[in-house]
Amino acid sequence: MASYKISVNNKLLTVDADADTPMLWVLRDHLNLVGTKFGCGIAQCGACTVHVDGYAVRSCQLRVASVGNSKITTIEGLSAEGTHPVQVAWSEVDVPQCGYCQSGQIMAAAALLKHNPNPTDDDIDNAMTNICRCGTHYRMRKAIHLAAKKGELVK
Ligand code: FES
Ligand code: FES
Repeated sequence: MASYKISVNNKLLTVDADADTPMLWVLRDHLNLVGTKFGCGIAQCGACTVHVDGYAVRSCQLRVASVGNSKITTIEGLSAEGTHPVQVAWSEVDVPQCGYCQSGQIMAAAALLKHNPNPTDDDIDNAMTNICRCGTHYRMRKAIHLAAKKGELVK
């Protein structure tokens, strides 16, 4: 067990944990940020996706000891009031079905748009590798195009 200072949602926090503890469990169990979900624990589903320095990362594979000075953002920190263009587009397109995968999907989509503000369908299909058992992929693609337009409007 050791003490780690980590930046989560723009706050510097101290957590006591074993070095190998995945960030997914640090977020959920130590910090009560339960919007980030557990799906598979083996980097396959993407339900646990967060941003690390703006890139989408599967937090079940990220050891707390490896975080260092990187800035972690979870779904709770994506925007203060749920008004990130991806969140607004998700709501307008009514993307979710059961909802379980959706915070990971939104984080993946937000990271995609941060680095590629006007993605093609192929860009979206290549970047959005998170699994959705409810088959919301078509609506997610539509919402990402809408969010790209909204992103342009707020620039
Ligand atoms: S829980 Fe991390 S990829 Fe599935
Ligand atoms: S909305 Fe149900 S798993 Fe994606």
